[in-house]
Amino acid sequence: MGDSDTATVDGTGPIPPTIEWAGDRVRLVDQRKLPETLETVEARTLEELCALIESMAIRGAPALGVAGAMGVALARLEGMPVDEAVRRLAKTRPVARDLLWGARRAASAGDPAEEAERIAREDVERNRSLAAHGMALVHDGARVLTHCNTGSLACVSYGTALGIVRAAHEAGRRVHVWVDETRPALQGARLTAWELQRLGISHEVVVDSAAGHLMASKAVDVVLVGADRVTANGDVVNKIGTYTLAVLAAHHGLPFVVAAPTSTFDPSTPTGRDVTIEHRDPTEVLTCGGRNVTPQGTRAFNPVFDVTPVSLVTAYVTEVGVWRPSELTDLMRRLTEEDFGEGAGAS
Ligand code: MRU
Repeated sequence: MGDSDTATVDGTGPIPPTIEWAGDRVRLVDQRKLPETLETVEARTLEELCALIESMAIRGAPALGVAGAMGVALARLEGMPVDEAVRRLAKTRPVARDLLWGARRAASAGDPAEEAERIAREDVERNRSLAAHGMALVHDGARVLTHCNTGSLACVSYGTALGIVRAAHEAGRRVHVWVDETRPALQGARLTAWELQRLGISHEVVVDSAAGHLMASKAVDVVLVGADRVTANGDVVNKIGTYTLAVLAAHHGLPFVVAAPTSTFDPSTPTGRDVTIEHRDPTEVLTCGGRNVTPQGTRAFNPVFDVTPVSLVTAYVTEVGVWRPSELTDLMRRLTEEDFGEGAGAS
């Protein structure tokens, strides 16, 4: 990638698009290399793309949705049946609802590549609309606690939960972000801090276990997170540690807000208990920055998502408005009937 400060898409700012279709291949920002270097990597086959998804060169639910669609487009170029491609893609990061959504959408389109590019364009519009709806939750002077990376890098551009922060900042509000480092893959420390620095938004990285202390010290006004999947009853499956934040927020009487596009909502899965949590290589836990941090032979357990029950959620911010848990049945019904139509920027 060239000079990143000039690499903008639709005037969305100093962070280049996470993923794009390059005619016969997929080009994406290699998130494994950040924050040290901003590099792109290309996939010319479905298998190459799946390997990049599995190794988390690309991650974040909406970005995975676009990757899913582009994976189907690659499969079509390879002459592979699209249904087979959807099954292969679904196995790479099985929790992410958007991945399956994007892959299926491209698979049912006449031209999967065209559809994938359409989904990528819509991502930016959706995120801006979501951010506009969520801005009311971030007042001037707000201290926001966030987890993982829900910014531009988790999408094509702009971001979901972090997009709300960005919109508030762009509107001139003073915002401070507490960035959970997000062990073990450090999406907060590596990626969210990198984005906030580029955007000029005030922030400090904290260890994940600092959240309780920050809340007890009255240093947090709102907890703002994303989601990998919201099940029919409103349970939220998101990065490991999200549930802990929700319990703490409830204890301290703080709003716990989930920002996600409607493609993350899954009316066909009844509750969070019905989602199989992804476990990754224990080595991620046993090491930090490539160095062993435990005695030789230590075992580790590495679930990378958890379930926050609907009872702990204050509100869901989507591109079609802000929803209270009691209103979710209506949203899920509308999603089942797919009556939002295309270009889901409408309110
Ligand atoms: O394992 P990751 O980095 O793909 O997990 C990402 C998250 O948990 C995000 O919070 C979620 O995908 C929402 S991104 C807008």
